Amino acid sequence: MARVPVLDRGFIFGDGVYEVIPVYGRVALRLREHLERMQRSLDAIRLANPLDIEAWTKLVGTIVARNPWDDQAVYIQVTRGVAPRDQAFPAGAQPTVFVMANPMSKPTIEQRERGVGVITAEDFRWKRCDIKSVSLLANCLLRQMAADAGCVEAVLLRDGLVTEASTSNVFAVKSGVIVTPPKDYRILPGITLDLVLDLAREAGLALEVRPLPEAELRGADEIWVSSSTKEVLPVTRLDGAPVGDGKPGPMYARMYQLYQDYKARIARRARACMMQPNR
Ligand code: PDD
Repeated sequence: MARVPVLDRGFIFGDGVYEVIPVYGRVALRLREHLERMQRSLDAIRLANPLDIEAWTKLVGTIVARNPWDDQAVYIQVTRGVAPRDQAFPAGAQPTVFVMANPMSKPTIEQRERGVGVITAEDFRWKRCDIKSVSLLANCLLRQMAADAGCVEAVLLRDGLVTEASTSNVFAVKSGVIVTPPKDYRILPGITLDLVLDLAREAGLALEVRPLPEAELRGADEIWVSSSTKEVLPVTRLDGAPVGDGKPGPMYARMYQLYQDYKARIARRARACMMQPNR
């Protein structure tokens, strides 16, 4: 059984960063992008990365191979290590690395076909939401507010603008145009968000990355949330009121198909690579 000393700064202060990487058919989706984001998170908290990209790639590959599931979610956590309790950084502490995998808990067919409910809530988090920090108390409180209301997510509002949701990024669709807030200190730069943007651009869908006022969210034809474990999910109830006609919309159907096609493309490419000699 893995154990962590009680004085680990991840336990005492939430002083660490993490990643959640989706794995389909034993292929990690956008692994390099996840590892690069982790590097940015580590840089932001001034913690030296204990491994390089090649070593992380190998480690993730080992974990994926050792577990029985084809589809997994790999969790990586790096904390500032074990030291006597003092908020200032300790000299010479070794970062604690923790990696685990769980079977991928994908959205249910019902969630895809009927959509999910969300509430809105004031975004009371700090001004470094771009860091994928393990200090997630605010996100836990917000996610629980959603759970108490029987919803999957809390969509967050700061100064009248949508930021993101408690564990995912947010898109609104109006008259065929997809709108999502820009990546800045207010949101986590989601790897799935980037994937959705790439797929939308490739398919020539109308897209605007710009501030998203609350009123536009409430008047949207469609709302989606995205994350590594949710993929892209349609939101059909917002604070108890129907979104658009209350059913997942045609733009969602299009994006869902693009996403599935992308996953199939990646799996084909990985299989083709494995069949090449000398690999
Ligand atoms: N959460 N915003 C927040 C606050 C998140 O916690 C997440 C992901 C995202 C989406 O990022 P990505 O597409 O890279 O998964 C956006 C992960 C899945 C979690 O904490 O479990």
